[in-house]
Amino acid sequence: MAIVLRSLLFLILLYVSYIPLALAQNEKGFIYNGFHDQANLGLDGIAEIHPNGLLQLTNLSHNEVGRAFYQFPIKFDTNSSLSFSTNFVFAMVPEVDNLGGEGIAFTISPSTDFTHAYANRFLGLFNDSNNNNTANHILAIEVDPVPGADFGDIINHVGIDVNSIDSVELAPTTYFSIEEGKNISLELLSGNPMHLWIDYDEAEKLLNVTLAPTTIPKPDRPLLSTPIDLSEILLESMYVGFSSATGTLASSHYILGWSFNKSGPAQSLDVASLPPLPERKGKDKPGLVIMTSLIAVAVVLITVAGVAAYILRRKKYEELQEDWEEEYGPHRFSYKNLHKATKGFKDTEVIGEGGFGKVYMGILPSSNLQIAVKRISHDSRQGMKEFVAEIVSMGRLRHRNLVQLLGYCRRRGELLLVYDYMPNGSLDKFLYSNEKPNLHWVQRFGIIRGVASGLLYLHEEWEQVVLHRDVKSSNVLLDAGLNGKLGDFGLAKLYDHGTNPQTTRVVGTVGYLAPELTRTRTATTFSDVFAFGAFLLEVACGRKPIEGLVLPERILVDWVAECWRKGDILDASDPSLEGNYVVEEMELVLKLGLFCSHSIPAARPSMKQVVQFLDGDADLRELPYDSASFGTFTSNESSDFTSLPFSQASGPSMSTTDSILRDGS
Ligand SMILES: *[C@@H]1O[C@H](CO)[C@@H](O)[C@H](O)[C@H]1NC(C)=O
Ligand SMILES: *[C@@H]1O[C@H](CO)[C@@H](O)[C@H](O)[C@H]1NC(C)=O
Ligand SMILES: *[C@@H]1O[C@H](CO)[C@@H](O)[C@H](O)[C@H]1NC(C)=O
Ligand SMILES: *[C@@H]1O[C@H](CO)[C@@H](O)[C@H](O)[C@H]1NC(C)=O
Ligand SMILES: *[C@@H]1O[C@H](CO)[C@@H](O)[C@H](O)[C@H]1NC(C)=O
Ligand SMILES: *[C@@H]1O[C@H](CO)[C@@H](O)[C@H](O)[C@H]1NC(C)=O
Ligand SMILES: *[C@@H]1O[C@H](CO)[C@@H](O)[C@H](O)[C@H]1NC(C)=O
Repeated sequence: MAIVLRSLLFLILLYVSYIPLALAQNEKGFIYNGFHDQANLGLDGIAEIHPNGLLQLTNLSHNEVGRAFYQFPIKFDTNSSLSFSTNFVFAMVPEVDNLGGEGIAFTISPSTDFTHAYANRFLGLFNDSNNNNTANHILAIEVDPVPGADFGDIINHVGIDVNSIDSVELAPTTYFSIEEGKNISLELLSGNPMHLWIDYDEAEKLLNVTLAPTTIPKPDRPLLSTPIDLSEILLESMYVGFSSATGTLASSHYILGWSFNKSGPAQSLDVASLPPLPERKGKDKPGLVIMTSLIAVAVVLITVAGVAAYILRRKKYEELQEDWEEEYGPHRFSYKNLHKATKGFKDTEVIGEGGFGKVYMGILPSSNLQIAVKRISHDSRQGMKEFVAEIVSMGRLRHRNLVQLLGYCRRRGELLLVYDYMPNGSLDKFLYSNEKPNLHWVQRFGIIRGVASGLLYLHEEWEQVVLHRDVKSSNVLLDAGLNGKLGDFGLAKLYDHGTNPQTTRVVGTVGYLAPELTRTRTATTFSDVFAFGAFLLEVACGRKPIEGLVLPERILVDWVAECWRKGDILDASDPSLEGNYVVEEMELVLKLGLFCSHSIPAARPSMKQVVQFLDGDADLRELPYDSASFGTFTSNESSDFTSLPFSQASGPSMSTTDSILRDGS
């Protein structure tokens, strides 16, 4: 009987779900205050609709996409006008406070098939080869908490994307408050719901994007009001919906309600009737005073019982914590959690070993977040306060192309730094060892652009100039999507705080050290650019900057300059690429590598210029060929070299600051 009933119900549901098909032709708009049974959404990836009507595009799983598109195409022909109006309420709940990614994009696309798009980058809309292709016919409005490989992105932004992840226009997430007469900024990763309106008027050819917290009505002033001709972008039949991705950082991305209209202003959502977000762990529930007191009593009892056990365990998990550290609370990890995460710092969890100490892979018990823990021994407390202040300020650096520092922990004689885990390890393994697959040119060029953008951020785009001091392929780590991220920034400062007194103060790696460093001993952005030049040549040529000390013919810079002089700079390209590269890009990278390696610091380009060259916004041909001036060891510099304090080192490419997060092999 139950089976019969169920089949009957199924048939009815089947029938009901067909009705909208018939209506679809005339469909001009819809409004969902929560996505209940009637929601005509096609879901893709890990997107799901909760029983309460909440649409969840992604959860805290890394490198995943979630999409939800309105099932029926919408007509966007010039006869029935290209104007449209939509608004939706979204929320981004990060895995760790204020750390999450990658974002949500309201998307208008000719198809809902995105099988070719990356599952962790480009908001699940593009891949490297179709990014910025006019054949995409995709318009997207992105809300993104992470600044990007798309150079120049700013933290917490709303952007308009046309066929490409590089926004044609973007703005920081603010809204204009008439009451206060100023812009008020919104933190996307606050976990609070926010309301976004998108309006396009065909006659004005203006695309307006307006953002606000859900507590206020639509502000009068749009955040973006961008002239754009959609007739060149949209096709006659288009799908509308949302695409969202997570990367090495993840957020739960939610859509609470959505209204769309093709024939007039979209009705505003009824904020009060939207489904609530799931309760966040660790947030207090209001009004549960009695419950709280009961728990408090229980806690007291358990505490008393636990004291004995605690005293025994205390020794094992003992930490060093001083008054001045209080303000860094959120950045402190407990030793116990790190101990658990790394299975007690077991040898099998070691993924790297460098000048500073061992690096362990771990999984945080509470969030399942994968982390890399660098365990550094430090004997002196001297300078620790300043160093921790710097570490914590490094933790505020946020960029897609920097390995994220999540926090730290201190014990007696030991400092632990916690980083985002990079599953693919360091780039040098891909370039020089057979353990990893060969990278093709598109990937290499992508990594180069990414690292350039990360270094530009350190040099020019953060509140203070941060020098890296050890740019090299073994300090470039690759995430699951093979995006390059610069690691170890700022770590060189450990030397200034006397952590490792037996090593020299000249920090860096032979082959990447700018010639002036041997005289001045002062790192500058110019010396970082020099090292970046050596890195460019490494990636393009598949060779180390120096192979065997003191043999001039093995110095990569000289060899590339020589190939150029002979009129065929492409001879220097990595033979394992077998000629499969974009000639203009290869030539650009090789020449740019040489210019960055100029022996006169001021003659090197700035990272901003480097990024412009790589972006094609500036032309390298403007720069003259000048064979005498590239490299470390040209002319009189070579004699200095043998007297360097670190030349007694054993290996040719000896590193005084070995990588933090190398993979184990
Ligand atoms: C995210 O959703 C996917 C698919 O529903 C599931 O397999 C995965 O376990 C979820 N991840 C988390 C962290 O909840
Ligand atoms: C637009 O209207 C014109 C004239 O009314 C008609 O000939 C044409 O087929 C229409 N185009 C579309 C795409 O409907
Ligand atoms: C990128 O996507 C396009 C389709 O949009 C596909 O033809 C192409 O093969 C994809 N390229 C890669 C490298 O995945
Ligand atoms: C995108 O393509 C256009 C031409 O179609 C070009 O002008 C622009 O520089 C490209 N942008 C990027 C970031 O590659
Ligand atoms: C877009 O914003 C501008 C400036 O506030 C306004 O003049 C225009 O009417 C708006 N257009 C739409 C379609 O909302
Ligand atoms: C507010 O933000 C908008 C958009 O970013 C900007 O154009 C405007 O100048 C800002 N206004 C004030 C008063 O800061
Ligand atoms: C769409 O706009 C028309 C005209 O203003 C209005 O009558 C209709 O209710 C709107 N529909 C939705 C779903 O917003």
